[in-house]
Amino acid sequence: MSDTTAPWRSSPETVVHLTAGGVSLVLDAEGPGLPSVLHWGTALTADIDLHPALLRPPRVDNLIDAPVGFSIVPEAYTGWFGAPGLTGVRTDRTGWSTRFALRGLERRDQSVRIHAADDAAQLELSCTIELTPEGVAVLDAEVRNTGASDYLLSSFAPGLALPSCAAEVHDLSGRWSMERIPQRHELTVGAHRREVRRGRTGAETPLVLMVGEVGHDFAHGQVWGVHLGWSGNSSYAAERTMEGHRRLSAGELLIDGEVVLAPGDAYAPPTQFFSWGVGLDELSGRYHRYIRNRPSHVSSPRPITLNVWEAVYFDQSLEKLTALATAAAEVGVERFVLDDGWFGGRRDPTRGLGDWVVSTEVWPEGLRPLIEHVHRLGMEFGIWVEPEMINPDSDLARAHPEWILRAGAGLPPESRHQQALNLSAPDCFAHVRDALEALIAENGISYLKWDHNRDLIEAGDGRGAPAVRAQTLAAYRLMADLKTRFPDLEIESCSSGGARVDLGVLAHADRVWASDTIDPLERQRIQRWTSLLLPPELIGSHIGDERAHTTGRVHTLDFRALTSVFAHSGLELDLTALTAGERDAVAGWITILKEVRHLVATGRMVRRADDEDALWVTGAIAEDAIFSVVCMSRGIEAPGARIPLPGLDVDARYRVEVLGPVPDIRGDGVPWWQDGIVMTGKALGVIGLPFPQIQPEQGVLLRAVRQR
Ligand code: DGJ
Repeated sequence: MSDTTAPWRSSPETVVHLTAGGVSLVLDAEGPGLPSVLHWGTALTADIDLHPALLRPPRVDNLIDAPVGFSIVPEAYTGWFGAPGLTGVRTDRTGWSTRFALRGLERRDQSVRIHAADDAAQLELSCTIELTPEGVAVLDAEVRNTGASDYLLSSFAPGLALPSCAAEVHDLSGRWSMERIPQRHELTVGAHRREVRRGRTGAETPLVLMVGEVGHDFAHGQVWGVHLGWSGNSSYAAERTMEGHRRLSAGELLIDGEVVLAPGDAYAPPTQFFSWGVGLDELSGRYHRYIRNRPSHVSSPRPITLNVWEAVYFDQSLEKLTALATAAAEVGVERFVLDDGWFGGRRDPTRGLGDWVVSTEVWPEGLRPLIEHVHRLGMEFGIWVEPEMINPDSDLARAHPEWILRAGAGLPPESRHQQALNLSAPDCFAHVRDALEALIAENGISYLKWDHNRDLIEAGDGRGAPAVRAQTLAAYRLMADLKTRFPDLEIESCSSGGARVDLGVLAHADRVWASDTIDPLERQRIQRWTSLLLPPELIGSHIGDERAHTTGRVHTLDFRALTSVFAHSGLELDLTALTAGERDAVAGWITILKEVRHLVATGRMVRRADDEDALWVTGAIAEDAIFSVVCMSRGIEAPGARIPLPGLDVDARYRVEVLGPVPDIRGDGVPWWQDGIVMTGKALGVIGLPFPQIQPEQGVLLRAVRQR
């Protein structure tokens, strides 16, 4: 992070060159309008000597006579025919087309703050871009109403221009238990706009909307991306105009009337995080380093977690869960998490949500006996909550039906038998906060699995106004209040699995639940693409049952365990139903997971896929390194080619050896398989190693130890 103690200084620059972390961002700030992007990408030397002619776009037949470069907040008057960066209107119907004049620049380290105003529209705009030491461009903005009438804001999404070689859109989509499915295609003229209107980040969030050189992959081709730090409605866009301009932006998708700026009021859109790299690994690595350098980033070794959901579902009892806790401690678990079903009348998903008091029916002696047992075994205790939600069949809904989010008289359609609470109502917020504080304080809880299991539909405040934005901010405030009261509390962001994965919630949460599927084959893909943005230690991944509950696929323990390596690892299965031998095998893997977790949480991630996307290599590289080599499916080519292990220090020598049990993969004819091999990082990356045949849905974990 930059030295934020340095004072802001006003700057006379007409060309602003920010450079850090191997990236340069160059802005034309000559005025009189808002600055525009001259370059974003490859680091340039400090003494770039830009010719003034570069600052003036050329005149082209049949376009406007005196062209103006389109800016970070593009405006129609400049000849920009894409979506304006800011849209809105005053109640007297003026102010719908802006002409911001640059009023001043301030500089601090590799940050610039831009001040502009439109006296006719009576709006002030400021925009801060920090190029962090890791090379991530963090963009924060604000628009203020300086007029005497209300300003109805429709959208505000500053963005960055891309060069014309940015020609292939690449982002993610998904659905429940199938999050993060990559999609890519040509950036054609028009807009690739990804709108999520679910009142949460959504399983289909683009996560990082990227545009790259055609054919870019993990290692090759420039790629530019943006992530929006926001858990409400969002709109990401990659645009290409007929004039040949390209632009990348992401903003909050506002419902009509959601932001009405009274005189003097301001609106700040969610922070945008832009990253560039040659290859996806480089783009992703910048995000990882930036996220890891946040002061709030988890620093302790990620505790091996057992979550009880798929072990018992709603069938909770002291006897069953103490036995499970005992078995968990025996195999090396460090955090025990009690999932849904411990409170109120919650014996199934139809009732009880909102009643955050321990069920005397299920827990006649309260949770203390279980929690004390867990603590005695040396494990932390965590618990599941879903604070923003309510079942209509609950004591809370009967007492406060007016607290349910709704647009008008009728309630929104139910989803998972539930509605959403209006946390922006102060008394509702205080009720939920007080209930959670009491729960945490009375039970010595150090971890909340914070769920959010439905899309928001017609999410109004009950008085007619839209409330998605207010709800999102209230959820953040609730998490922040709890963390202030309980500084050691960790929060997991879960939302029907992985539907709330973003840097907005991760300003308060400490990991995400990537998906409700723990089928390792699907998890390989989900985690690979979630880690495009998030470093692996923030991604929860559990070893589940042999037969995956969501898909019915059957996998070996080795494949399930291997899949939880590049993540915050844990278990989610009924250990008491395993044989002693099976439990020993789980314990063996937990020992390995503990051995490698520091490397996973600090290493630089590399990923490769073969031409057919059949064979995947994933690595975490620090002083030493680990790699997994996994066969996702049968490719057209017979196995047998050498597999490179990329990203190692080319001059160093490493001893590479198989880590962990791979009884199904025989090393016949592969001399290094049993005893390891010493090779240079260069040879490992360029020539690679021969591997024995790895069947689909099998894999191997390797360790590369630097030789001294
Ligand atoms: C959805 C979550 O993603 C699951 O892990 C589990 O916590 C259930 N909710 C509980 O209702």
